[in-house]
Amino acid sequence: MTPLGNASGVASIPQLAALHERGEPIVMLTAYDYPSARIAEAGGVDVLLVGDSAAMTVLGYASTREISIDELLMLTRAVRRAVRKVPVIGDLSYGTYESSDELAVATARRFVTEAGCAAVKLEGAGEMLPRIRAIVAAGIPVIGHVGLLPQSVLTPDGYRARGRDVEQALSIITDAQALEAAGCAALVVEAVPADVTAVITERARIPVIGIGAGSATGGQVLVFNDLLGFTEGHVPRFVKRYASAHTDLVAAVRAWATDVRARRFPAGEQAYGIPVDVLAGLREALKK
Ligand code: KIV
Repeated sequence: MTPLGNASGVASIPQLAALHERGEPIVMLTAYDYPSARIAEAGGVDVLLVGDSAAMTVLGYASTREISIDELLMLTRAVRRAVRKVPVIGDLSYGTYESSDELAVATARRFVTEAGCAAVKLEGAGEMLPRIRAIVAAGIPVIGHVGLLPQSVLTPDGYRARGRDVEQALSIITDAQALEAAGCAALVVEAVPADVTAVITERARIPVIGIGAGSATGGQVLVFNDLLGFTEGHVPRFVKRYASAHTDLVAAVRAWATDVRARRFPAGEQAYGIPVDVLAGLREALKK
């Protein structure tokens, strides 16, 4: 899982590049710990992203800005320990890459050396382009991210689709092209109208991986907790739930609690036994 440079000097993730060359959709899922990564890999995903969405889905913060790099690295290491083959992408957390190329490279390196990541993702274009070039020049593949950028959302109503007017759509398309030119190995496009994503995909040679961005992409990514129904309350329009983990697991805990209170748990089969003669000896010993 070492990052490799390809002939064009763009650091790529070979597994994803191969799928893209064959025209096969890339299946990316977030994972945040050992069990979620084991489930995702057993489910056959192609790549795991330890997204900074962990801030909200796992750590209960109000925004992705609040997770620290050490928290994110700890979760990323747990994911990396869980996987056998699937590459793991680290997400550069807010405040750990924006201010200088040196900081961006140092942070990206931590995800590779301390957490075994095959690539890193960061949000935005514009002033982030030199950061991306610097990380790629250091031999670390970078995944770009355009459209809705959660690290820039300051209020709950900020999680709306982007690129719904001509000016904003053009700006997202231009950013996507600039990210490819800066050396990104792939691109995440989040919460953008399907027709705008289609233009990005048509013009891109690198894989375009959508989340809430329609089907004209080279792959899809979803948040583990959304896909499997761990989250309560509002579900984004673009999520299709394939399980109801929260409901099912609450029911399971409730059933266990009911059994404990009714003294139905543990039953004989959940208890350890000792041989009859040992028990007899113990009883004799207790009489003394
Ligand atoms: O942090 C995250 O989970 C992400 C995905 C939504 C792409 O950036």
